[in-house]
Amino acid sequence: MSQYVGAIDQGTTSSRFIVFDRAGRIIVCKQREHAQIYPRPGQVEHDPREIWTNTQAVMREALDEAGLEPSSLLSVGITNQRETTLIWDRRTGEPLHNALVWQDTRNDRLVAEFAREGGRDRFRGITGLPLASYFSGLKLRWLLDHVEGAREKAEAGDVLFGNIDTWLVWNLTGGPDGGLHLTDVTNASRTQLMALDTLAWDDGMLAAFGIPRAMLPGIVSSSQVYGETKAPFAGVPIAGILGDQQAALFGQTCFQPGEAKNTYGTGCFALMNTGEAPVPSTCGLVTTVGYKLDGKPAVYALEGSIAITGALVQWLRDNLGMIRDSAEVETLAATVADNGDVYFVPAFSGLYAPHWNEGARGLIIGLTRYANRGHIARACLEATAFQTREVLEAMETDSGIPVRELRSDGGMVANRTLMQFQADILDVPVVRPQVAETTALGAAYAAGLATGYWNSLDDLVRNWGVDQRWEPDMDPAQRRRIVSAWGRAVKRSFDWTV
Ligand code: G3P
Repeated sequence: MSQYVGAIDQGTTSSRFIVFDRAGRIIVCKQREHAQIYPRPGQVEHDPREIWTNTQAVMREALDEAGLEPSSLLSVGITNQRETTLIWDRRTGEPLHNALVWQDTRNDRLVAEFAREGGRDRFRGITGLPLASYFSGLKLRWLLDHVEGAREKAEAGDVLFGNIDTWLVWNLTGGPDGGLHLTDVTNASRTQLMALDTLAWDDGMLAAFGIPRAMLPGIVSSSQVYGETKAPFAGVPIAGILGDQQAALFGQTCFQPGEAKNTYGTGCFALMNTGEAPVPSTCGLVTTVGYKLDGKPAVYALEGSIAITGALVQWLRDNLGMIRDSAEVETLAATVADNGDVYFVPAFSGLYAPHWNEGARGLIIGLTRYANRGHIARACLEATAFQTREVLEAMETDSGIPVRELRSDGGMVANRTLMQFQADILDVPVVRPQVAETTALGAAYAAGLATGYWNSLDDLVRNWGVDQRWEPDMDPAQRRRIVSAWGRAVKRSFDWTV
């Protein structure tokens, strides 16, 4: 019987299960969306039980559709939305609160309090991260401060913390009945609780944020056999875990320093491999773990995290009703020749890299009677490309390595107008690979490497091929003019208060 490798891809809006063959081709893919819960402005939650139910459902549906048994899978890898934070009861498996999603900004007062003494970058040296609402540590602190009894139970070891990878592994391996409580280095590097050089929880960070060590998972590599799934998918080794953006870096086979990818999803996350030593950022990026294979040194990355890109298209669809489906934004944008001098800064969760301005709020600027729906659609698409340019510029300065081509993936790469504009505005070619599902593929690669499905990174590089390439084609003076206008619009969005 043929054997395959499976990947759970638990993202911000949906959970998927994809089965890959040795060539990295998709055998089957099943997907379920889950509810986005918005209790108040700036707050975003997920129900962890719904995520676990959906994960099991897509696994079952995929295996059924392809006529596979769990035993058809040599191993399974997990990739996940990062930073999203939850706590649950070790004995019952019940979450004590909905998960606080990475976009949630309810801990912004804590961020300001910590930044008051020592500034926003005070923990960068240890963790690679600025103080921001984005990362898990201060989300966890918020939960410990606001959920009744949570801190006492956490200190007693009765309440566990995890990001979504940890939650899924714990449930897949038995839950209250002996479930494994662990996380991989890439996810741990987003908590602001792990020291980047030792790859261990940092006592100073735990003390600073007031986090009980007893609630933290063990930190493991991104590719090793951690344990086996229990019923109903009994006996499949879980052998890879990577945060979703690191998984995309791995799936894009960016194994050489200087190789970079950008994933165009809810947000955009550009990562550049910087090799075996962490590169500190002075330009507003974050330093993060790219991946770590078992027994090998960690490989680090610089990351430019952008909170809102594809989510802006969804906002046009869901909140304004300007388009019926996301693909229509391209058709609408094509009704105009350019943006008509309209700029849209989608600072809906403040602004992340490279600005880190919690107080920024979205704005549309440059409106005149001339502007129409087409210009708004175009400005919405262009916002993605402008934000990507900002983080790639920072990356080049921080690393000293010029980006020679940008490997792209994620839902928005279907949008040819955006991809061409991206190449134009970067003045660098943009390349889309044949297998666009690089996030799930990266997790499958990590699991397959640990279980002998693939033997080396070279096997993976051989699977990578170009589907389409966009060459830059814009007058430099025009590029300078619109990049400068974008920069001025961004500054106007900072520190908005009512
Ligand atoms: O850091 C957040 C990121 O991991 C979310 O990615 O693709 O689930 O929106 P995505």
